[in-house]
Amino acid sequence: MTERHGRITGWGMYVPDRVLTNHDLEQMVDTSDEWIVTRTGIRERRITEPGETSSTMSVEAAQRALARADVSPNELDLIIVATSSPDYLTPPVSSMVQDQLGAQRAAAFTLAAGCTGFVYALVTADQFIATGMYDKVLVIGVEHLSMAIDWTDRDTCVLFGDGAGAVVVESSYQPTGVLSAELGSEGKDWDALIVPGGGSARPFREETLAKREQYLRMDGRRVFKFATRAMTDSTLRVVRQSGLSWDDIELIIPHQANARIIDLAVRRLKVDPAKVMVNLDRYGNTSTASIPLALCEAVDQGRIRSGDHIVMVGFGAGLTWAAAVVHWQPEKVDEAPILVEDWPIGERLRQPVTRLRNAMWSAGVIVRSRFQEASTALLLPLYTWQGRRRRRRKQRESKEG
Ligand code: COA
Repeated sequence: MTERHGRITGWGMYVPDRVLTNHDLEQMVDTSDEWIVTRTGIRERRITEPGETSSTMSVEAAQRALARADVSPNELDLIIVATSSPDYLTPPVSSMVQDQLGAQRAAAFTLAAGCTGFVYALVTADQFIATGMYDKVLVIGVEHLSMAIDWTDRDTCVLFGDGAGAVVVESSYQPTGVLSAELGSEGKDWDALIVPGGGSARPFREETLAKREQYLRMDGRRVFKFATRAMTDSTLRVVRQSGLSWDDIELIIPHQANARIIDLAVRRLKVDPAKVMVNLDRYGNTSTASIPLALCEAVDQGRIRSGDHIVMVGFGAGLTWAAAVVHWQPEKVDEAPILVEDWPIGERLRQPVTRLRNAMWSAGVIVRSRFQEASTALLLPLYTWQGRRRRRRKQRESKEG
């Protein structure tokens, strides 16, 4: 038996030139740089110029990825575009990207899984390659959320930004690319992050527009709680599945939603923060573009080198989550099919032992984080009461002063 894997051979990113800082937002809504930085870690984000759309940003990122992989567009078998902000509801933006790239032979589809979309799309590409159906797949994560943001709503407008990232995945007989993965959905919370209008449930009408239902709404606290749990638990599970030890993981690339979500998950996982890629201070939450943007910057900064193992972990609207352990070795090598039966006996024995060690370690982390969640829930009323008392005292003091 021979196995096929998806080698990531190219990567590329694009962000619009226009920078919107927290100070710019101070002029637009009742907010402050200090609030945004302490609550989210974001300092600035990129916003499209007129004429820029999800398809144009995708093409820019894709062309860079294809050039790095030395693959021409007409060699592509499939294009998957992950996004929640396509140019149009119909046609799928993937076909527009296919046309603009000149990838005549390629099949193309658009995948919507909220901010988790890129990891879903990468795993899907890997599966098409593993089954032998395709050899060269282009995966794009793109978001043009600035057009779905209510710029008068301070709860959401400070969080998001625009951008695109892409990778080229090519067939390989070596165990590289996605080594283990998990895709998940918690549909009961579908309304926690929602654009209510414009779909078939509430098509655009005067009434929907009057209620500003064309814009994104979010229950920030519900998403926050889900995100920290999903990020911690799915990272643990994919590392365990991969048969690698935690020392083998060189970098974790989380979805760049909020520095506090990342910090909490990192503390629960007890990983060295230096092993976690963060660039949300400069781009904000670019939804499904955030992981490929962070991946591209990590590679360009030398934080990922050939032979490294990385974890990509995303969460978002749906609510969905996904994680994958990825072996990074972009160089194409002359290779022949490897028979699984030919694997050395030592390697086959090492895997179950490492899996057992990881299982014990992750059980410890899960117990610890459940304990933290329970104690936070118990202490929350006390903190709220203390906070109110402090605020009242401050108000009294300022009145007296
Ligand atoms: N500037 C200033 N104040 C703001 C504000 C802003 N931009 N946005 C909200 N506030 C206010 C609130 O009105 C509230 O005021 P009140 O106490 O007088 O009612 C106060 O700040 C605290 O709001 P709260 O919602 O408790 O803040 P928080 O600590 O939960 O942080 C988020 C809010 C949105 C940053 C946080 O919930 C979050 O990051 N959630 C996850 C969001 C996310 O990642 N979404 C995308 C997932 S893909």
